[in-house]
Amino acid sequence: MTDNDNTQAMIKRGQHVVMNTYGRLPMTIVKGAGPLVWDADGKQYLDFVTGLAVNSLGHSHPAIVHAIQEQAKEILHTSNIYWIPNQVALAERLVEHSFADKVFFCNSGAEANEAAFKLARKYAKKHFGSHKYEVVSLENSFHGRTLVTLTLTGQTKYQDGFDPLPNGFTYAAINDIEGLRAKVGNNTAAVFIEPIQGEGGVIPASDEFLREARALCDQYGALLIFDEVQCGVGRTGKLFAYEWSGVVPDIMTLAKALGGGVPIGAMLATDKVAQAFQPGDHASTFGGNPLATGAGCAVLDVMLTEGFFEDVRERAAYFQAGLEQLAQRYQTGGTVRGKGFIVGLPVSKLGPEIVQACLEKGLLINCVGGKILRFLPPLIVQKPEIDHALQILDEVFAMIW
Ligand SMILES: Cc1ncc(COP(=O)(O)O)c(C=O)c1O
Repeated sequence: MTDNDNTQAMIKRGQHVVMNTYGRLPMTIVKGAGPLVWDADGKQYLDFVTGLAVNSLGHSHPAIVHAIQEQAKEILHTSNIYWIPNQVALAERLVEHSFADKVFFCNSGAEANEAAFKLARKYAKKHFGSHKYEVVSLENSFHGRTLVTLTLTGQTKYQDGFDPLPNGFTYAAINDIEGLRAKVGNNTAAVFIEPIQGEGGVIPASDEFLREARALCDQYGALLIFDEVQCGVGRTGKLFAYEWSGVVPDIMTLAKALGGGVPIGAMLATDKVAQAFQPGDHASTFGGNPLATGAGCAVLDVMLTEGFFEDVRERAAYFQAGLEQLAQRYQTGGTVRGKGFIVGLPVSKLGPEIVQACLEKGLLINCVGGKILRFLPPLIVQKPEIDHALQILDEVFAMIW
């Protein structure tokens, strides 16, 4: 029996017992090192998906492995009824390097957004009264799969079949300033924005739009919430995406890359806003546990090393320029967009086939909405590997166009 037979047998077993909620490729990834992964047959791939923006330092980064191993030897989990040293240490690092004063830890992006939503509702009620409960989010956004975060998500395809949805939600188009003005008012508790829409197809919010959102929130006493679950923690070439625009939110949510592969979520807020939560208002059994926050500290220690982000930005610009050249040469149907290493390329045809052809040639990429190629390489990817990825894309584009 070959490894491939084993994989196919495992997939069959999985189809019997694992709920059918994902459109999965018929493969399994069993090992990773830096920007590379291997499937069960030992075939090597360059990973430009990184677990959908999770493994930002590449696979099995020694600092993360070390932190997890050392923590596992001591204790894996306690409870938030006690103080957790790694949790305090990670909160200190996040506070020191962001606008925020306080952090709440949880286990995923959806949970972080749910926490942000609850905090905003509580804050609005406390400071303004019960009428102020509405939330504005953006069309084409993605905020998660719990009922509230699904409702925040401005794409009906994710909501169909789950109604009735909670009320008090309204949507504005990204980068439409007049449209946003029409939605925000006295009853608005919060405005939710991804500084770069990820699942929506790598669409950056303009600085002007973000500035207007900030001004409207200030005018109406609403909270500005940035969902940096996908675009935060170094992905754009700065620790947080909001740093590019200089527009500072009241609340920010993180997850994905923060744990380097260990599940974690975080909701950061200013002191004034955080005070709306009192003991008993919100909780999470696993939130901020010693293992996850130990991994988080290791991730930030690496990213906060002198010169780390300058280097990331230089290599990201190199990749974007190379990709743009290919897009021009083959007239693939759009121009490169995004920031740092969250990069999108609209294609006029055959998005999933391009993904498949790249996979066969040893490059993992992803496609959103069937027509936007999304590239989420690890931040540690080097120029020879970028050249290799561009070479594969060149060959695939030559086949398609
Ligand atoms: C911007 C954004 N917010 C929230 C989420 C949900 O995160 P999770 O799947 O960890 O719940 C995602 C997931 O892709 C995301 O991209």
